[in-house]
Amino acid sequence: MGQALGRGFASRGHEVMIGSRTPSSDKLKAWMEKAGKKSSTGTFAQAAAYGTTLVLATLGTVAEKAIDAAGPSNFQGKLLIDVTVPLDFSRGMPPGLFVGTTDSLGERIQRKLPYTKVVKCFNTVGNGQMVDPTYTDAEMMICGNDKDAKDHVRQILKEFGWKGAIDIGGIEGARWLEALVPLWVRVGIALNNWNNVFKVLHE
Ligand SMILES: NC(=O)c1ccc[n+]([C@@H]2O[C@H](COP(=O)([O-])OP(=O)(O)OC[C@H]3O[C@@H](n4cnc5c(N)ncnc54)[C@H](OP(=O)(O)O)[C@@H]3O)[C@@H](O)[C@H]2O)c1
Repeated sequence: MGQALGRGFASRGHEVMIGSRTPSSDKLKAWMEKAGKKSSTGTFAQAAAYGTTLVLATLGTVAEKAIDAAGPSNFQGKLLIDVTVPLDFSRGMPPGLFVGTTDSLGERIQRKLPYTKVVKCFNTVGNGQMVDPTYTDAEMMICGNDKDAKDHVRQILKEFGWKGAIDIGGIEGARWLEALVPLWVRVGIALNNWNNVFKVLHE
């Protein structure tokens, strides 16, 4: 997810740094070659300090640990696009959610970073559909507590080729955006296709 979104931001002229435990790895060198001159890599803390807009794209199980490694003060006052999903594979495939339905990773991250504008976005689609999506008439479902931050995300979505966004409300809506993913996996298995996207039909 991080590499696909990073390539997307770089392709639209933004400077991008990917944070990693191994910033000099071969996989990230290969990513930089593809993403071009505006791309770089660093530690989690370097990337969090560098960015004005941040993306959290770690495994759900380590999201809070990665924020600790990045340094919570580096997130202060910034927009954080949260793409993580609390997938629970402890019973195998298809997955459930390790947060249940009365909490979410989006809310946990917002509680951990009270002075950061967390917007849940991109988590309901596969990494091949986030930038230049196949279905240009679909809208992305997003949520978060800060209206200006959500407007900013809506603008990014349009830059990436999305028709727009459906804002489902405050960050507590992350419970349901995250819960769409175990459903999305089941739909993917049924269709044997991982490019499927949920589209809301409305006037
Ligand atoms: N893949 C999709 O299509 C998709 C779609 C929707 C949502 N999501 C969600 O997006 C998030 C990222 O998915 P992904 O497919 O990109 O996962 P991934 O390829 O497994 O990448 C996960 C990232 O998490 C970091 N990480 C792994 N273990 C860690 C640890 N113990 N401590 C700190 N960092 C660790 C890794 O950083 P290093 O570089 O340091 O290894 C890696 O960059 C997940 O929450 C996933 O559920 C994925």
